[in-house]
Amino acid sequence: MDTRLLFQDAANLATPMLAVFAVDVAIGKDADPLVALLSTSDAVGKAAAPVLATGEFKAVLGEQLLLHSPNGLKAERLLVVGLGKAKTLSVDEVRKGAGVAVRSAKPRGVREMAIAFPEDHALDDEHLENLPCTLLCRSIVEGAEVGELDWDTYRSDRKDRSVQTLTIVARESEETTKKEIQTGFEEGRIVAGAQNFARALVNEPGNVLTPTELGRRAKAMCDEAGLKCEVHSTEKMLELGMGAFHAVAKGSAEPPALVVMTYEPKLEKGQAPAKDAPVLGLVGKGITFDTGGISIKPADGMDKMKYDMAGAAAMIGAMRAIAQLKPAVKVIGIVCSAENMPSGRAFKPGDVLTAMSGKTIEVLNTDAEGRLVLADGLHYAKTLGCTHLINAATLTGACVVALGMINAGLFSNDEASFERFLAAMKISGEKFWRLPCTDDYKDQIKSQIADIMNTGGTRWGGAISAAMFLKEFVGDTPWIHLDIAGCAWNEEVKPWLAKGPSGIAVRSIIEWVRGYSA
Ligand code: BES
Ligand code: ZN
Ligand code: ZN
Repeated sequence: MDTRLLFQDAANLATPMLAVFAVDVAIGKDADPLVALLSTSDAVGKAAAPVLATGEFKAVLGEQLLLHSPNGLKAERLLVVGLGKAKTLSVDEVRKGAGVAVRSAKPRGVREMAIAFPEDHALDDEHLENLPCTLLCRSIVEGAEVGELDWDTYRSDRKDRSVQTLTIVARESEETTKKEIQTGFEEGRIVAGAQNFARALVNEPGNVLTPTELGRRAKAMCDEAGLKCEVHSTEKMLELGMGAFHAVAKGSAEPPALVVMTYEPKLEKGQAPAKDAPVLGLVGKGITFDTGGISIKPADGMDKMKYDMAGAAAMIGAMRAIAQLKPAVKVIGIVCSAENMPSGRAFKPGDVLTAMSGKTIEVLNTDAEGRLVLADGLHYAKTLGCTHLINAATLTGACVVALGMINAGLFSNDEASFERFLAAMKISGEKFWRLPCTDDYKDQIKSQIADIMNTGGTRWGGAISAAMFLKEFVGDTPWIHLDIAGCAWNEEVKPWLAKGPSGIAVRSIIEWVRGYSA
């Protein structure tokens, strides 16, 4: 979709469809809805007034009202999209509303449309803090571009219903406001582009996206974005002593890939890099297919395990945005990619592995492979000089049992890093819920014959056992672990999002990184 930004009165824009947002400004729980359009254009207000007066449209989040040939407007259709209660309005509703607008245009065959930038004179001052212009514009672009995609790449009956051009139309206003809107627009395109890039990788089936292919795509992205990128395989892993990662990889005929992407901020002329400047390490689980290995998974739903590389995709997507946003902080992205297969060469329950850090691991279950590849990825990141670590992984079914599919799991050994991530979540609108990984849980991964084992002895607190395992490899380095198993795949189509890969964590990671920009 080609997204553009235009400053003019929405009423004068000739377009097949103009979308405007509306909120319910009624106060009090039992009050009848009182709908207000988020547009200061008199003509738009007049066009919608008769139908709004009927009271049938209540401005519930995602609710839609379509008018053909609206009176006094150049647009062929006027689509009013509800954002819910004015009192609780935030950019999250705006992001969803933009997705709803675009997804409602697609089945109607509308290829070109416009969204009116929400003007908040219908709202009072208390909302301005929740809705700064930059973030508002960015959210519209994100919601629209992420909402627009449907996963029909592999369908030969593919009906091309895409919206090709979207114009965000904002009122001519003061220069400063215009600048803010423009900045939000550009950021939105970068962030949405990164999220959709990650989603497209996750959508690929395991036979297409092998570890080698994932490495190729990461490299191609880096070449285009101007990032340094190295893609290694078995030889380098053995040279580095990555005994945990290699054990997972060796059961497959497909060679593994260890991808290292580096972003270096540009220094001002004559400026030396600060000695104590942070170096951020982004580590992703890239299992392109997880059969479970010798501890094989049941057949039911095993096809889903093609998305076991969503953590890696999130990091590749985030690196793409970082290359474009150019924060003043060094970032290293590491992807540990392999296929987890049963075979005559596969690792087995009972095996004892030596990780790159030197720690020995007793394998109790070959299906707990994600933590093994990440153990070596996280340790490697430290040897490359990373001072702060974040990893994303579709790591445990237990995390899905604990949190369902609304919140992803978050674990951290460092309050300051966690606080920064909370701040990033406020901007990204993504939902993560913190779970504990204090040393009280250490016994859960105590092994009889090795330093640690790769699963908890029992089913209880499985997401925490996995986090405790990773924690063994980060040491004192501030670290955040995102368990995205329940949120990486959207199981039910939503009015603002297609069924399939969600691109979870991309937006929050980008924002977390920007938080360190000096
Ligand atoms: N890739 C799975 C986790 C997963 C589950 C991802 C559901 C997406 C949706 C992971 O490798 C795995 O199999 N974990 C096991 C660990 C267990 C053997 C300790 C699990 O969660 O059952
Ligand atoms: Zn597994
Ligand atoms: Zn897995």
